[in-house]
Amino acid sequence: MPFIPPVPAAPETPPSFRQFLRAVRTNALCMWPKSAYRQDMAVSKFFGRFNVLLNTPDAIHHVLVGEPGKYRRSPASIRVLRPITGEGLLLSEGDDWKLQRRTVAPALAPRVMPMLARHIAAANERAVARLHQQVGEPIDLLATMQTLALDIAGRSMFSLEMDQYGALMRRMLTEYAENYSKPHLLDMLLPASIPSPRDIGRMRFKRRWMSLIQTILAVRMATPQPEVPRDIFDLLRAARDPETGAGFSAAQLRDQVATLILAGHETTAVTLFWALLTLAEAPEEQEWLAEEAVGVAIDTENPFASVARLIRTRAVVNETLRLFPAAFTLVREAIVPDRIGDLELPPRSIVFIAPWVLHRHHALWRDPAVFRPARFMPDQPPPERFAFMPFGAGPRICVGAQFAMTEAIMVLAAIVGQFRITRADTRPVLPVGIVTIQPDYAAPVRLTSR
Ligand code: HEM
Repeated sequence: MPFIPPVPAAPETPPSFRQFLRAVRTNALCMWPKSAYRQDMAVSKFFGRFNVLLNTPDAIHHVLVGEPGKYRRSPASIRVLRPITGEGLLLSEGDDWKLQRRTVAPALAPRVMPMLARHIAAANERAVARLHQQVGEPIDLLATMQTLALDIAGRSMFSLEMDQYGALMRRMLTEYAENYSKPHLLDMLLPASIPSPRDIGRMRFKRRWMSLIQTILAVRMATPQPEVPRDIFDLLRAARDPETGAGFSAAQLRDQVATLILAGHETTAVTLFWALLTLAEAPEEQEWLAEEAVGVAIDTENPFASVARLIRTRAVVNETLRLFPAAFTLVREAIVPDRIGDLELPPRSIVFIAPWVLHRHHALWRDPAVFRPARFMPDQPPPERFAFMPFGAGPRICVGAQFAMTEAIMVLAAIVGQFRITRADTRPVLPVGIVTIQPDYAAPVRLTSR
């Protein structure tokens, strides 16, 4: 029986502004009406400002690849992310972004993956040993994946186990998600340079968060720089802009680290949560995956070498990213007038390119709602251009995509290779879009040893 993961009902008609605002604050996945999953474009106008959802390859190409300089991140996205990522790569624009991108990208390039895979393998080993102690008990899957992803981020960034800081970091991120991550009306309407009432609390939070990052950095800075880099931090500290030769200042390093920790661990944690939860609901797919995961021995010297052989695992990760793309929408604000097809866009129009919608679009996928990892096997035709874009596209494509795929594949294979996973209750788990795609409650699961 094909498994169709449950989703919240899409509105029957395009939402009014009140409904739109409520969706943004409670579950942004309900922002788009049913028709959006069949149309090329959906346009609405709130407070005289265009809100446009783009679903065609040409329009998406235009905004993300052809004319990215005509767009910037929206004020609401900047407000929500700035307190935790500071002025790091994610929120930088223009020349500042170019400089940061070409300095950070080499620290996450394909040739760094073998080093990062060793950190992932070490964190996996410890997590799997802990899970063996919990066999048969109900397990909070989301918290388990968040802790593991944070441990992997800490090790690959600093070569530090995150025991000392992990719990406090998770508590602060939960506090942030609950209190500051949901945009209010003024967060959307005011330019990002003018503080909104909510920004005061956000700024206070930012000071506490950055001081925690600084404390972790100080521990790390105290260790001498080795000749052979151990982790991303060694690479960032040594990084020089290829054109100017400039390195990062202390404040820039701190913001970069904060950005990579946040962008890197929450997205991967929820991806792993959805992959494992969905496999618990789709036992046939789980056994199909387990055949591979049990059979591929991880090379302890060079764990990255094993990743290429985990073909079914990669397909499951891709199918999870299709149905639950952690970054469910990219949002841009037009800086100057622009034209997309026949649509004239004035400055300050808001453009949505939503992997959540594209990945479930009826013109782009057969049986879009069905969980069917085999569609991503190498013998199948690849998805159409821009039909599958969990990591975005164009110059601002996710700089950590390789790392995220390596991590998700290695963790999934390690867990499914060792355990059979089942749900510990029967309540449907609904996805909720707030910054990333979260479950509507902490669904427990149970493991048995294979
Ligand atoms: C499954 C995991 C992940 C998903 C789904 C994901 C998704 C994305 C997407 C869609 C974007 C583009 C946003 C836009 O254009 O508006 C992005 C950007 C970014 N991601 Fe990821 N990401 C993941 C993991 C990671 C990891 C592991 C890291 C770092 C270690 C990372 C760091 C970043 C950074 C720094 C940017 C901004 C790049 C720029 O603006 O130049 N991400 N990510």
